[in-house]
This record gives sequence, structure tokens and C-alpha cells, in this order.
Amino acid sequence: FAQDAAAGEKVFLKCKACHQIGEGAKNGVGPNLNGVVGRKAGTVEGYSYSEANKSSGLTWDEATLKEYLKNPKAKVPGTKMIFPGLPNEADIDNVIAYLKQFDAS
Ligand code: HEM
Repeated sequence: FAQDAAAGEKVFLKCKACHQIGEGAKNGVGPNLNGVVGRKAGTVEGYSYSEANKSSGLTWDEATLKEYLKNPKAKVPGTKMIFPGLPNEADIDNVIAYLKQFDAS
């Protein structure tokens, strides 16, 4: 599927209320998202996750992220991420392309 990281940066504005990414990113309302693509759910050090996220057993590969970002509560019932999800599939693909640019740091 098409992935446009520049378009994804604009989509990420919706995530920025709660998530930081890039150099110096800190945990806030949500965990920092550096290196999230490929990471096991609930493993950012120093961030206090919900039990639901921590014990989800998920790894945030692209397919899993795609389902989660479409409807977070459906994928992880009990998550404390209060975000309705992204209705537009291209937005989801593009924001994943954006996330992929940032390694864990
Ligand atoms: C968790 C992505 C928007 C608050 C997460 C996780 C991902 C993610 C991948 C799981 C992280 C992990 O397991 O380490 C995104 C993206 C967003 C977005 C890409 C925009 C499209 C938001 C918004 C908020 C938010 C707007 C706040 C209103 C949270 C919280 C968690 C979380 C609180 C922790 C969930 C828990 O422990 O149950 N987010 N998020 N996110 N996010 Fe978001």
C-alpha cells in the first residue's frame, strides 16, 4: 500500500496532543513513539501503561498498528488511549510511514 511520510507528518498533528516523537522525545499523556514500529506493546521505560496495553501481547508491526489506529478500543479493549481512531485508511498508512522514520532512542 502507498505510504507517504510527508503526508503522515500532517496526520501526526492529531497524535501530538499526547505523543512526542523524534530527538529528545519524552513520555507525556502517551508514551514517546520513537521506535514504535516493530516494538512490543507496553515497553517504553518510565511510562505507566494500562494493564490492557501492557498485557495485550501485541507487537506493533505495520498490520497490527493499522488495526489499532483504525479503532484503538476494538484492538485493545480497556486501553487508556482516548482517541477514536483514524477513519481514513490512507491517513493510517501515511502516519505509519511517518512513524517508521524514527528509531528507538
Ligand atoms: C498508546 C499511537 C493518538 C494517548 C499508543 C500506542 C501507540 C499509539 C502505537 C501504543 C504504544 C506502546 O504500546 O508503547 C498513536 C497515534 C496517534 C495517537 C499514531 C494518532 C494517530 C493519541 C491521542 C492520545 C493518545 C490523541 C490522547 C488523547 C495514548 C495513551 C496511550 C497511547 C494514553 C497509552 C495506552 C495504554 O496504556 O492503554 N498510542 N496515538 N494517543 N496513546 Fe496514542
